[in-house]
Amino acid sequence: MDDGEPFPPRVVLVGFMGCGKSTIGPRVARPLDYGFLDMDEAIEERMGLSVAAIFRERGEAAFREEERRLAAEIAGRDRLIVAAGGGAFAQPATRAALQEGSLAVWLRCELATLLARIPDDGTRPLARSRETIGLLFAEREPSYRLADVTVDASDAPPDEVAQRVVAALRGYRRRTMER
Ligand code: S3P
Repeated sequence: MDDGEPFPPRVVLVGFMGCGKSTIGPRVARPLDYGFLDMDEAIEERMGLSVAAIFRERGEAAFREEERRLAAEIAGRDRLIVAAGGGAFAQPATRAALQEGSLAVWLRCELATLLARIPDDGTRPLARSRETIGLLFAEREPSYRLADVTVDASDAPPDEVAQRVVAALRGYRRRTMER
């Protein structure tokens, strides 16, 4: 941050597939002078396979295990914006690791917006049909609500959503310091 005040070492962006975590992350990191880490990309690098191939060839459990391990490693990193995969915060152990010393921000998005954004190209193995996406969306929402801050990401271009996140972080920090 710009004025040397205490600020969480990590900000974790959570939310459903297609809410913009990977797009918004670097745009939040830049003005704060933080690094950026995309969990799905890191897992792909570590396992040497795409997310779709990991699910297909090793199964979801193997993906979740790597996700959990990565979350635990991230807990030691400083000045980092993290884009979590859409399911990470719904896994209790992964969520606990991601929350440790971090500020979690939920990029909340309407289901209709997500349905329009999620490509039907097989890259997201859990987004098999509109019906599955709807069910998963309802199932996941309670865990996203556990984030510290909520930012609406439905109706604005990425730069604006990123500005909203930075503003929410500054507001949150002010409220925290006033307590
Ligand atoms: C998943 C979301 C994906 C990816 C994997 C599983 C989920 O991440 O981690 O396909 O369980 O919702 P994005 O939210 O970045 O698409």
